Amino acid sequence: MAEAPEETVVHDELKFANDSKMTARDVSVYYGAKKAVDRVSIDVDSHFVTAFIGPSGCGKSTFLRCFNRMNDTIDIARVEGDIQLDGENIYDTRMDVVQLRARVGMVFQKPNPFPKSIYENIAYGPRIHGIADSKSDMDRIVETSLTRAGLWNEVKDRLDESGTALSGGQQQRLCIARAIAVDPEVILMDEPCSALDPIATAKVEELIDELRGRYAIVIVTHNMQQAARVSQRTAFFHLGNLVEYGPTEEIFTNPRADRTRDYITGRFG
Ligand SMILES: Nc1ncnc2c1ncn2[C@@H]1O[C@H](COP(=O)(O)OP(=O)(O)OP(=O)(O)O)[C@@H](O)[C@H]1O
Ligand SMILES: [Mg+2]
Repeated sequence: MAEAPEETVVHDELKFANDSKMTARDVSVYYGAKKAVDRVSIDVDSHFVTAFIGPSGCGKSTFLRCFNRMNDTIDIARVEGDIQLDGENIYDTRMDVVQLRARVGMVFQKPNPFPKSIYENIAYGPRIHGIADSKSDMDRIVETSLTRAGLWNEVKDRLDESGTALSGGQQQRLCIARAIAVDPEVILMDEPCSALDPIATAKVEELIDELRGRYAIVIVTHNMQQAARVSQRTAFFHLGNLVEYGPTEEIFTNPRADRTRDYITGRFG
Protein backbone atom coordinates (compact mmCIF):
# COMPACT_ATOMS: atom_id res chain seq x y z
CA MET A 1 0.00 0.00 0.00
CA ALA A 2 1.35 3.41 -0.93
CA GLU A 3 2.21 6.20 1.44
CA ALA A 4 -0.54 7.20 3.86
CA PRO A 5 -0.93 10.52 5.63
CA GLU A 6 1.15 10.60 8.76
CA GLU A 7 -1.72 10.18 11.14
CA THR A 8 -2.86 6.82 9.71
CA VAL A 9 -1.27 3.78 11.29
CA VAL A 10 -1.18 1.04 8.67
CA HIS A 11 -0.07 -2.35 9.94
CA ASP A 12 2.85 -3.89 8.05
CA GLU A 13 0.86 -6.90 6.83
CA LEU A 14 -1.35 -4.52 4.87
CA LYS A 15 1.38 -2.19 3.66
CA PHE A 16 2.89 -4.95 1.56
CA ALA A 17 -0.32 -6.66 0.50
CA ASN A 18 -0.85 -6.42 -3.23
CA ASP A 19 -4.17 -8.05 -3.84
CA SER A 20 -6.24 -4.92 -3.72
CA LYS A 21 -9.52 -4.65 -5.60
CA MET A 22 -10.04 -0.97 -4.91
CA THR A 23 -7.66 1.74 -3.80
CA ALA A 24 -8.37 5.18 -2.39
CA ARG A 25 -5.67 7.83 -2.30
CA ASP A 26 -5.95 11.11 -0.43
CA VAL A 27 -9.72 11.07 -0.59
CA SER A 28 -11.52 14.01 0.99
CA VAL A 29 -15.25 14.66 0.93
CA TYR A 30 -16.91 18.01 1.57
CA TYR A 31 -20.56 18.84 2.20
CA GLY A 32 -20.54 22.47 1.15
CA ALA A 33 -17.68 23.98 3.14
CA LYS A 34 -17.66 21.21 5.75
CA LYS A 35 -15.04 18.50 5.39
CA ALA A 36 -16.47 15.11 6.38
CA VAL A 37 -13.61 12.87 5.18
CA ASP A 38 -10.03 14.04 5.40
CA ARG A 39 -7.37 12.69 3.02
CA VAL A 40 -8.07 9.00 3.48
CA SER A 41 -5.97 6.38 1.72
CA ILE A 42 -6.79 2.69 1.90
CA ASP A 43 -6.56 -0.49 -0.14
CA VAL A 44 -9.57 -2.80 -0.18
CA ASP A 45 -8.48 -6.41 -0.52
CA SER A 46 -10.10 -8.69 -3.10
CA HIS A 47 -10.40 -11.71 -0.89
CA PHE A 48 -11.21 -10.36 2.54
CA VAL A 49 -14.04 -8.61 4.28
CA THR A 50 -13.06 -5.10 5.36
CA ALA A 51 -14.92 -3.48 8.26
CA PHE A 52 -15.19 0.29 8.73
CA ILE A 53 -15.72 1.19 12.37
CA GLY A 54 -15.76 4.42 14.35
CA PRO A 55 -18.07 6.72 16.29
CA SER A 56 -21.20 8.19 14.77
CA GLY A 57 -20.52 11.05 12.37
CA CYS A 58 -16.88 10.12 11.70
CA GLY A 59 -17.53 9.76 7.97
CA LYS A 60 -17.84 5.99 7.46
CA SER A 61 -20.94 6.15 5.27
CA THR A 62 -19.66 9.17 3.39
CA PHE A 63 -16.37 7.43 2.62
CA LEU A 64 -18.11 4.16 1.73
CA ARG A 65 -20.29 5.98 -0.79
CA CYS A 66 -17.17 7.20 -2.62
CA PHE A 67 -16.49 3.65 -3.83
CA ASN A 68 -19.47 3.55 -6.17
CA ARG A 69 -19.96 7.29 -6.58
CA MET A 70 -23.15 7.39 -4.57
CA ASN A 71 -22.06 10.81 -3.28
CA ASP A 72 -22.72 12.06 -6.84
CA THR A 73 -26.40 11.89 -5.93
CA ILE A 74 -25.95 14.39 -3.07
CA ASP A 75 -25.91 17.91 -4.51
CA ILE A 76 -23.67 19.57 -1.94
CA ALA A 77 -21.16 16.70 -1.72
CA ARG A 78 -17.78 17.07 -3.40
CA VAL A 79 -15.18 14.30 -3.59
CA GLU A 80 -11.44 14.93 -3.99
CA GLY A 81 -8.65 12.42 -4.47
CA ASP A 82 -8.30 9.23 -6.42
CA ILE A 83 -10.28 6.00 -6.28
CA GLN A 84 -9.51 3.08 -8.52
CA LEU A 85 -11.20 -0.20 -9.28
CA ASP A 86 -8.68 -2.69 -10.69
CA GLY A 87 -6.43 0.23 -11.54
CA GLU A 88 -9.16 2.19 -13.30
CA ASN A 89 -10.06 5.68 -12.03
CA ILE A 90 -13.77 5.48 -11.20
CA TYR A 91 -14.11 9.29 -11.22
CA ASP A 92 -12.86 9.51 -14.79
CA THR A 93 -15.38 11.31 -17.01
CA ARG A 94 -15.49 8.26 -19.30
CA MET A 95 -16.62 5.99 -16.45
CA ASP A 96 -20.19 4.74 -16.94
CA VAL A 97 -21.67 5.28 -13.48
CA VAL A 98 -24.59 2.88 -13.98
CA GLN A 99 -22.13 0.17 -14.96
CA LEU A 100 -19.89 1.09 -12.03
CA ARG A 101 -22.75 0.65 -9.56
CA ALA A 102 -23.40 -2.83 -10.95
CA ARG A 103 -19.73 -3.70 -10.48
CA VAL A 104 -19.69 -2.12 -7.04
CA GLY A 105 -23.05 -2.95 -5.48
CA MET A 106 -24.49 -1.50 -2.32
CA VAL A 107 -26.68 -2.77 0.51
CA PHE A 108 -28.19 -0.20 2.85
CA GLN A 109 -29.04 -0.02 6.51
CA LYS A 110 -32.75 -0.25 5.92
CA PRO A 111 -33.74 -3.08 3.57
CA ASN A 112 -35.13 -1.41 0.44
CA PRO A 113 -36.65 -4.02 -1.87
CA PHE A 114 -38.53 -2.66 -4.88
CA PRO A 115 -42.33 -2.79 -4.48
CA LYS A 116 -42.37 -5.61 -7.01
CA SER A 117 -42.38 -9.40 -6.88
CA ILE A 118 -39.47 -11.28 -5.36
CA TYR A 119 -38.61 -12.54 -8.86
CA GLU A 120 -38.65 -9.02 -10.32
CA ASN A 121 -36.48 -7.66 -7.53
CA ILE A 122 -33.73 -9.97 -8.76
CA ALA A 123 -34.48 -9.87 -12.50
CA TYR A 124 -34.59 -6.08 -12.77
CA GLY A 125 -30.82 -5.48 -12.73
CA PRO A 126 -29.84 -8.29 -15.11
CA ARG A 127 -32.56 -7.09 -17.49
CA ILE A 128 -31.42 -3.44 -17.65
CA HIS A 129 -27.82 -4.57 -17.97
CA GLY A 130 -28.71 -7.08 -20.69
CA ILE A 131 -27.17 -9.94 -18.75
CA ALA A 132 -29.85 -12.58 -19.43
CA ASP A 133 -30.40 -13.94 -22.96
CA SER A 134 -33.67 -15.75 -22.39
CA LYS A 135 -36.38 -16.47 -19.85
CA SER A 136 -34.65 -19.67 -18.78
CA ASP A 137 -31.39 -17.77 -18.43
CA MET A 138 -33.15 -15.23 -16.22
CA ASP A 139 -34.76 -18.01 -14.16
CA ARG A 140 -31.30 -19.43 -13.60
CA ILE A 141 -29.89 -16.06 -12.50
CA VAL A 142 -32.80 -15.56 -10.10
CA GLU A 143 -32.33 -18.99 -8.57
CA THR A 144 -28.54 -18.69 -8.31
CA SER A 145 -28.68 -15.23 -6.75
CA LEU A 146 -31.30 -16.24 -4.20
CA THR A 147 -29.40 -19.43 -3.42
CA ARG A 148 -26.16 -17.53 -2.87
CA ALA A 149 -28.02 -15.13 -0.61
CA GLY A 150 -29.35 -18.08 1.40
CA LEU A 151 -32.96 -17.25 0.58
CA TRP A 152 -33.96 -19.66 -2.18
CA ASN A 153 -35.52 -22.34 0.01
CA GLU A 154 -37.59 -19.78 1.87
CA VAL A 155 -39.01 -18.09 -1.23
CA LYS A 156 -38.93 -20.56 -4.13
CA ASP A 157 -42.67 -21.23 -3.86
CA ARG A 158 -43.65 -17.57 -3.58
CA LEU A 159 -41.55 -15.80 -6.21
CA ASP A 160 -44.63 -13.87 -7.39
CA GLU A 161 -45.28 -12.35 -3.98
CA SER A 162 -44.11 -8.84 -3.24
CA GLY A 163 -40.57 -8.42 -1.92
CA THR A 164 -41.94 -6.01 0.65
CA ALA A 165 -44.06 -8.80 2.17
CA LEU A 166 -40.95 -10.60 3.43
CA SER A 167 -39.62 -10.23 6.97
CA GLY A 168 -36.92 -7.61 7.56
CA GLY A 169 -34.13 -10.20 7.58
CA GLN A 170 -35.46 -11.83 4.43
CA GLN A 171 -35.75 -8.42 2.78
CA GLN A 172 -32.12 -7.69 3.56
CA ARG A 173 -31.04 -11.02 2.05
CA LEU A 174 -33.24 -10.20 -0.96
CA CYS A 175 -31.32 -6.92 -1.33
CA ILE A 176 -28.05 -8.83 -1.16
CA ALA A 177 -29.38 -11.27 -3.80
CA ARG A 178 -30.33 -8.27 -5.94
CA ALA A 179 -26.79 -6.91 -5.68
CA ILE A 180 -25.34 -10.33 -6.54
CA ALA A 181 -27.61 -10.78 -9.59
CA VAL A 182 -25.66 -8.32 -11.74
CA ASP A 183 -22.43 -10.17 -11.03
CA PRO A 184 -20.64 -7.49 -8.99
CA GLU A 185 -16.98 -7.45 -8.06
CA VAL A 186 -17.40 -5.49 -4.85
CA ILE A 187 -20.29 -5.28 -2.38
CA LEU A 188 -20.54 -2.31 -0.03
CA MET A 189 -22.75 -2.73 3.03
CA ASP A 190 -23.68 0.15 5.31
CA GLU A 191 -24.80 -1.25 8.67
CA PRO A 192 -26.73 -4.03 6.93
CA CYS A 193 -27.89 -5.63 10.18
CA SER A 194 -28.79 -2.62 12.27
CA ALA A 195 -32.52 -3.02 11.61
CA LEU A 196 -32.49 -6.79 12.14
CA ASP A 197 -33.07 -9.04 15.15
CA PRO A 198 -30.22 -11.28 16.39
CA ILE A 199 -31.35 -14.33 14.42
CA ALA A 200 -31.68 -12.45 11.14
CA THR A 201 -28.35 -10.76 11.93
CA ALA A 202 -26.65 -14.12 12.40
CA LYS A 203 -28.00 -15.26 9.02
CA VAL A 204 -26.66 -12.18 7.25
CA GLU A 205 -23.29 -12.57 8.99
CA GLU A 206 -23.12 -16.21 7.86
CA LEU A 207 -23.97 -15.09 4.38
CA ILE A 208 -21.20 -12.48 4.37
CA ASP A 209 -18.78 -15.20 5.37
CA GLU A 210 -19.96 -17.41 2.51
CA LEU A 211 -19.63 -14.59 -0.01
CA ARG A 212 -16.11 -13.76 1.10
CA GLY A 213 -13.56 -14.59 -1.56
CA ARG A 214 -16.07 -14.37 -4.40
CA TYR A 215 -16.59 -10.62 -3.92
CA ALA A 216 -14.56 -7.96 -2.21
CA ILE A 217 -16.79 -6.84 0.68
CA VAL A 218 -16.72 -3.67 2.74
CA ILE A 219 -19.06 -3.43 5.72
CA VAL A 220 -19.74 -0.47 7.97
CA THR A 221 -20.78 -1.56 11.43
CA HIS A 222 -21.25 -0.13 14.90
CA ASN A 223 -21.18 -3.58 16.36
CA MET A 224 -17.63 -4.50 17.38
CA GLN A 225 -18.48 -8.17 17.83
CA GLN A 226 -19.85 -8.15 14.32
CA ALA A 227 -16.69 -6.56 12.94
CA ALA A 228 -14.65 -9.16 14.80
CA ARG A 229 -16.83 -12.01 13.53
CA VAL A 230 -17.18 -11.15 9.86
CA SER A 231 -14.10 -9.16 8.86
CA GLN A 232 -10.43 -9.90 8.35
CA ARG A 233 -9.44 -6.25 7.89
CA THR A 234 -10.58 -3.36 10.06
CA ALA A 235 -10.30 0.36 9.45
CA PHE A 236 -10.95 2.67 12.39
CA PHE A 237 -12.18 6.17 11.56
CA HIS A 238 -12.38 9.19 13.83
CA LEU A 239 -13.43 12.74 12.91
CA GLY A 240 -13.03 12.13 9.20
CA ASN A 241 -9.59 10.58 9.54
CA LEU A 242 -8.56 6.99 9.00
CA VAL A 243 -6.70 6.45 12.28
CA GLU A 244 -5.63 2.83 11.94
CA TYR A 245 -5.94 0.01 9.44
CA GLY A 246 -4.88 -3.54 10.11
CA PRO A 247 -5.82 -7.20 10.40
CA THR A 248 -9.05 -7.35 12.43
CA GLU A 249 -7.59 -9.49 15.17
CA GLU A 250 -4.70 -7.08 15.65
CA ILE A 251 -6.99 -4.06 15.75
CA PHE A 252 -9.08 -5.64 18.48
CA THR A 253 -6.36 -7.23 20.56
CA ASN A 254 -3.33 -5.07 19.93
CA PRO A 255 -4.27 -1.66 18.56
CA ARG A 256 -1.34 0.65 17.87
CA ALA A 257 -3.04 4.04 18.09
CA ASP A 258 -4.36 5.49 21.35
CA ARG A 259 -7.57 6.61 19.71
CA THR A 260 -8.24 3.07 18.44
CA ARG A 261 -7.60 1.59 21.86
CA ASP A 262 -9.90 4.11 23.53
CA TYR A 263 -12.67 3.36 21.08
CA ILE A 264 -12.53 -0.42 21.19
CA THR A 265 -12.37 -0.42 24.96
CA GLY A 266 -15.47 1.76 25.04
CA ARG A 267 -13.84 4.90 26.40
CA PHE A 268 -15.54 7.06 23.81
CA GLY A 269 -17.94 6.93 20.89
N1 LIG B 1 -26.13 14.70 3.06
C1 LIG B 1 -25.39 15.35 3.95
N2 LIG B 1 -25.37 16.71 3.98
C2 LIG B 1 -24.61 17.39 4.86
N3 LIG B 1 -23.82 16.81 5.79
C3 LIG B 1 -23.78 15.47 5.80
C4 LIG B 1 -24.57 14.67 4.90
N4 LIG B 1 -24.34 13.37 5.17
C5 LIG B 1 -23.45 13.35 6.19
N5 LIG B 1 -23.12 14.60 6.57
C6 LIG B 1 -22.17 14.96 7.65
O1 LIG B 1 -20.92 14.36 7.38
C7 LIG B 1 -20.36 13.81 8.56
C8 LIG B 1 -20.12 12.32 8.38
O2 LIG B 1 -21.38 11.68 8.26
P1 LIG B 1 -21.52 10.14 7.93
O3 LIG B 1 -22.97 9.87 7.74
O4 LIG B 1 -20.60 9.77 6.85
O5 LIG B 1 -21.01 9.49 9.30
P2 LIG B 1 -21.06 7.99 9.82
O6 LIG B 1 -19.71 7.67 10.34
O7 LIG B 1 -21.61 7.10 8.76
O8 LIG B 1 -22.06 8.10 11.04
P3 LIG B 1 -23.12 7.01 11.60
O9 LIG B 1 -22.31 6.01 12.32
O10 LIG B 1 -23.99 7.81 12.53
O11 LIG B 1 -23.87 6.45 10.44
C9 LIG B 1 -21.32 14.16 9.68
O12 LIG B 1 -20.86 15.33 10.31
C10 LIG B 1 -22.63 14.39 8.97
O13 LIG B 1 -23.42 15.30 9.67
MG1 LIG C 1 -23.32 5.94 8.61
